[in-house]
Amino acid sequence: MANEQALTELDNRFYRPLDEFFSVHSDVGLTYDDVSLATLYSETLPKETRLETALAEGIRLNIPIISADMDTVTEAPMAIGMALNGGLGVIHYNMSERRQLSEVSRVKNHVHGLIQEPITVLPDQTVGQVLEMIEQRKFTFSTFPVVDEKGRLAGLLPGQVVKPRYAVRKVQEVLTPRDRVHTVRHDQLGKDPIAYADRFFDEHPGIHKLLVVDEEDRLRGLFTLSDIERIIQEQRATLKPARDSRFRLLCGAAVSAARAAGGELDKERIVRHVAALVERGVDVVAVSTAHGHSKGVGEAVRAIRDAFPDLAIMAGNVTSEAGAEFLADCGANIIKVGQGPGSICTTRLVAGVGVPQLTALYLASRAAARKGVTIVADGGITKSGDIVKALTLADAVMCGGLLAGCPESPGEIIEINGKLYKRYRGMGSLAAMKAGSAARYGHKGSLQKAAPEGVEALKEASPSLDRVLLQLAGGVQAGLGYLGARDLRELRRRARFVRVTSAGRREAAPHDIVEIKTG
Ligand code: XMP
Repeated sequence: MANEQALTELDNRFYRPLDEFFSVHSDVGLTYDDVSLATLYSETLPKETRLETALAEGIRLNIPIISADMDTVTEAPMAIGMALNGGLGVIHYNMSERRQLSEVSRVKNHVHGLIQEPITVLPDQTVGQVLEMIEQRKFTFSTFPVVDEKGRLAGLLPGQVVKPRYAVRKVQEVLTPRDRVHTVRHDQLGKDPIAYADRFFDEHPGIHKLLVVDEEDRLRGLFTLSDIERIIQEQRATLKPARDSRFRLLCGAAVSAARAAGGELDKERIVRHVAALVERGVDVVAVSTAHGHSKGVGEAVRAIRDAFPDLAIMAGNVTSEAGAEFLADCGANIIKVGQGPGSICTTRLVAGVGVPQLTALYLASRAAARKGVTIVADGGITKSGDIVKALTLADAVMCGGLLAGCPESPGEIIEINGKLYKRYRGMGSLAAMKAGSAARYGHKGSLQKAAPEGVEALKEASPSLDRVLLQLAGGVQAGLGYLGARDLRELRRRARFVRVTSAGRREAAPHDIVEIKTG
């Protein structure tokens, strides 16, 4: 069989398979930089490898990367970007329940390439007023749908007439009338709106806009030829979106293990909110806490499982075989592993608790294999090589810091000494706990005595989520290629580990050079 060429007996003594390696190192907690993977005979090129992963029934990702449910990482724009690239975003809960529902709806109703709220003009505005609006709001386009006061389509104002020469004319005098504007009813777009729009532009040379309307001719969106061309081109180069059975983007949402005034778990409220999330189409709910191997988290998971037998439930965080088994027995399908590895975490410093991530993953993964559930490696991922190592034990990774600098994360870009940054904070930092995440760390009421378990920080702004994910996925594919693994299942089966010393770590990074360009 391709890629099957055995190591020698000597190799086998140095490069050990999973169980053997972790048994030999059972007296020490290991994390990503403590190990390296041995190269194995390969007939597989990186570009031939596949990164699909199935987290639960119906939750299939095309890249095994999930954006963290943190208030400086995942709201609708990040979740949309993650799913478009084949991953998953989990929307945080430091917001009102109502707002979280609308964030989920934004993801589930997102139609890629469709401008869902196009800028419109009114028939009795003048061209001069339109020109003023373009100037003030710095628009780079000058064609606008024209709608009446009830939002019904009245025509299209073409860019050719939006000129100072026609400033005094009313929009209704110069517009292309409704019956000559190309439209499609939103319920006729089918499963793949991009393909529909692409076909339409093919069949209508010279037409650059396609408007989407509802049954009552109210404007519901706008496709432009240039957007569709860009997307079609990108689709060839990038990753396939992660979708549900109705072709909508996948979306996760975190729920708090909320407590009632008396301190007991508020099961009724939790189940009511999950029901509303399910109604909006959420694919996964995450009971996300700092201590998942605890009575309250177990009860919250059980309550959700009892009410929603088929829902994918992610729960955590744990770092032991017993913890993973406990959450699986309570009804979780996806177990989140990690206590203290995160880039903004201080749990290990503040509480003296937590386990280096690879050892934690190994222990939890043994329970997961027995119980038929999956594992997410949450926190501490700083480079694509860490993802490859994590995936030898886990089914996906969850990242905060690696994605917090992207334009799709919440918050503004900040300029400091000519460099661009975005804010990134731990959900256990005082500011985040005040904004709602205190329950995640077992606190309720006043936070006066609560010791923060996270810090507030800055991340350098990154150019775009697409580029970051493409780089990470490319790195993981390279890893698979070196191991002769065609997919993640083969990676787990084939991986051989070797322990790295601090000298080995130094050797692994660029050294003894003056670096002039990264990457
Ligand atoms: P990275 O390393 O990707 O980690 O930035 C993100 C993960 O860190 C966890 N998290 C925290 N852990 N204190 C902690 O001990 C915190 O304040 C905190 N905030 C987030 C979380 O699991 C996240 O996905």
